[in-house]
Amino acid sequence: MTFNGQLASGSEWVKRLKGGVNLNQNVDLSCIIVIFGGTGDLTHRKLMPALYNLAYQQMLPEDFAVVSIGRRILTDEEYRNQVKQSVEKYSRFPMEEEIWKGIESRIYYLEFDFQDNHGYIRLNNVLKNLDEKYKTNGNRIYYLAVSPEHFEPIVDKLKLYGMNAKENSHRRIVIEKPFGRDLQSAAYLNEKITLAFSEENIYRIDHYLGKEMIQNIMVIRFANVVYESLWNSKYIDNIQISSSEIVGVENRGGYYESSGALKDMVQNHMFQLLSLIAMEPPASLNTENIRDEKVKVLQSIESVTPEYIKENMVRGQYGKGIIGNNEVLAYREEEKVAIDSDVETFAAMKLHIQNYRWAGVPFYIRTGKRLANKSTEIVVQFKSLDKVLYFKEFDYLEPNLLGIKIQPCEGVYFQMNGKKPGVENEIIPIQMDFCQNCNLENNSPEAYERLIFDVMKGDSTLFTRWDEVEYSWRFVDAISKVWKNIQSDLPIYNSGTWGPDEADDLLKKDGRNWWNI
Ligand code: BG6
Repeated sequence: MTFNGQLASGSEWVKRLKGGVNLNQNVDLSCIIVIFGGTGDLTHRKLMPALYNLAYQQMLPEDFAVVSIGRRILTDEEYRNQVKQSVEKYSRFPMEEEIWKGIESRIYYLEFDFQDNHGYIRLNNVLKNLDEKYKTNGNRIYYLAVSPEHFEPIVDKLKLYGMNAKENSHRRIVIEKPFGRDLQSAAYLNEKITLAFSEENIYRIDHYLGKEMIQNIMVIRFANVVYESLWNSKYIDNIQISSSEIVGVENRGGYYESSGALKDMVQNHMFQLLSLIAMEPPASLNTENIRDEKVKVLQSIESVTPEYIKENMVRGQYGKGIIGNNEVLAYREEEKVAIDSDVETFAAMKLHIQNYRWAGVPFYIRTGKRLANKSTEIVVQFKSLDKVLYFKEFDYLEPNLLGIKIQPCEGVYFQMNGKKPGVENEIIPIQMDFCQNCNLENNSPEAYERLIFDVMKGDSTLFTRWDEVEYSWRFVDAISKVWKNIQSDLPIYNSGTWGPDEADDLLKKDGRNWWNI
């Protein structure tokens, strides 16, 4: 790769950002990214803007090209124009013609059906020619930005035409979620993929892992001495992990009907957050050491009985309601959703991690669509002291809370008690609130920028290893089996609220409440 260290733009913070980019590496970034699903939403909204943003920060090598594959008939030029419009709309950096020109000429489009053998023969030839042209050394990243039914045929054909491996080159595959519908289908898919690619070349995307503050969880925990000594059942009362969305299912009713909040959010994103917040310190910062510790958390989640699930897990579905000033549809009125659908758009649960550190500490998880706010955060509630000194003097003191704010606001929040200024002896909660993204516009890279760059570098730390997927499906399967059989009691909540009352009751009966920071 080449990196000339020149800045492409004059704006002050871009300089700072670029100053911070660590291109130290003797890592070979050269590659052709082959995007299956080149005309899809994901490519236009996320992947292409991410590539542009990497180019903007001069993080793309010169020996690099993109080949997008789709079923629409388009010339390279037509495709490039469409991509340009998407970049203009979704990129966090402004469109700068000079930068765009640099990347545009390296984007190619091929039309074929993913089942069509001839398509792969053509693709192989195109790639070989581009290898010559751009000196990409046969390195490939196959990005499957397609719906899951295409995963298997694409992998099969890549193998059939020997495009899955080449000596002295790397061949990596990136798989979007959902990775299976349940454990069985995930295991089947995994088997198929591993016939063609080795585990080290499989990058299972969970885009939450590309978010700045999620990467920060390990740093906050393990780069500060104060937290680690308190990070256990002796000092922590409970941990809450919440991810709420304002949007409904948008145009994904068809997919969502076979998924629901449990499989769409809990199995992947929420469990990733859980493993990062609860894991033991890894032996080193090496990818496999980190993954080993994460998977142990998933293995240690206490198994659940149908009775436990009924008592400690809540689901709900959004009804009509007001969001902003607009009345929005109920889930059952959405496109491609059955009018008597019993799919949950909200899930909340209490879990226990059965290990030495966490025995007795409840972990509450909650996620839902059409809620009052868009926010993802983790709140660690510390225990209060017994009745001594101020804890004796005052009937109630607010607990210490550590909040890790993941989005949209990124930062860390700590709540403690202080004296209210004045002559009265009054104690009030005071907050230290660090906002990472308040002052620096465009500061945080989009998750996909980081993730694509990591695939180029060959760093799979922020991707899910098979056993993580396996253990999370094991657990989620148990819940979904029980929920399937109790169809009658699905609470409907009004859009624009915090979900069904049952979710509040889940904590109330433990003498607790959800914290919204
Ligand atoms: C996706 C889910 O994985 O994550 C969507 O399929 C959800 O349903 C989305 O809306 C949420 O992601 P983010 O980054 O907006 O929190």
